[in-house]
Amino acid sequence: MRSDANIAGPMTDPVPGPRTESFGEDVSRETPPPMDDTPIGRAAQLAVEALGRAGEGLPRPEQTRVIVVANQKGGVGKTTTTVNLAASLALHGSRVLVVDLDPQGNASTALGIDHHAEVPSIYDVLVESRPLAEVVQPVPDVEGLFCAPATIDLAGAEIELVSLVARESRLQRAIKAYEQPLDYILIDCPPSLGLLTVNAMVAGAEVLIPIQCEYYALEGLGQLLRNVDLVRGHLNPALHVSTILLTMYDGRTRLASQVADEVRTHFGDEVLRTSIPRSVRISEAPSYGQTVLTYDPGSSGALSYLEAARELALKGVDVSYDATHAHIGAQNNRNMVEGIQ
Ligand SMILES: Nc1ncnc2c1ncn2[C@@H]1O[C@H](COP(=O)(O)OP(=O)(O)O)[C@@H](O)[C@H]1O
Ligand SMILES: [Mg+2]
Repeated sequence: MRSDANIAGPMTDPVPGPRTESFGEDVSRETPPPMDDTPIGRAAQLAVEALGRAGEGLPRPEQTRVIVVANQKGGVGKTTTTVNLAASLALHGSRVLVVDLDPQGNASTALGIDHHAEVPSIYDVLVESRPLAEVVQPVPDVEGLFCAPATIDLAGAEIELVSLVARESRLQRAIKAYEQPLDYILIDCPPSLGLLTVNAMVAGAEVLIPIQCEYYALEGLGQLLRNVDLVRGHLNPALHVSTILLTMYDGRTRLASQVADEVRTHFGDEVLRTSIPRSVRISEAPSYGQTVLTYDPGSSGALSYLEAARELALKGVDVSYDATHAHIGAQNNRNMVEGIQ
């Protein structure tokens, strides 16, 4: 349940240091859309240059970090976050795979990947045990970025998986058998806590929860965190909530900053300092089969995703997924569950 005491309380920032939410204050000052004759790759380069420090000195993880982007609420920014963070990490020099685990295939669309019914897809991997390498496609225009697309077949997979052997760990097995070197795998989950999301949580060590800065932002999160606890207890001891990202932040409204404060009070260090502004460019990009990084590299949306990716990459350096950390993760999650019930 939400804590109204927090909402009404004094607006203090529990996280010291700069508030990068100022990105949200210039939502109306987007740069003009890229000109048609501008090569997209060059535009992406401009974004990297605009940020100055992007692409330099960002650590690449020693082992592939598998990050599950989950929230059983629809429309909170899971897909948008998955594709734009993935593109940002790739622009920072990493090799990144997006696994589209939502039958809607929105992540595939946003990355410009064909995903009509006949395309080899993540459904074939999960249900037909097809090697992941046979379905992965390079993303046009972003070097180092790849996508395992979802087709509409995946809508039946929740049911079909039930009767299959090792139904919860089919994605994990496929990822383990994938031999291409990768720095990150980002898994875009459907808005439910069924077998597809469980497959993602078994395959990854980290859960990233996008939270929309709106009323009832924390509603239902207790259920998600309990599921993380269940999967950790029974199927994947390394699983923990590593990252919370505030999305669709509108710096002009008092509500957004109240929700941000409430989330930071509950989750503390897991919350990235950078929040993603509500931005027309971000919502327009998918209809052009692009991420905002290539669609409008200088926009506040592109810069904030680049910055969030940088934080994510740097956070990873302090984190090692040994037994100690799994224990700390478990403790943190328990505190979170208690905090928001
Ligand atoms: N920062 C943002 N600014 C504006 N629109 C956004 C932003 N993030 C997401 N959206 C839009 O909100 C809708 C839901 O986002 P989406 O990423 O598809 O959510 P989910 O995957 O959780 O269902 C989409 O239409 C998307 O374009
Ligand atoms: Mg989605």
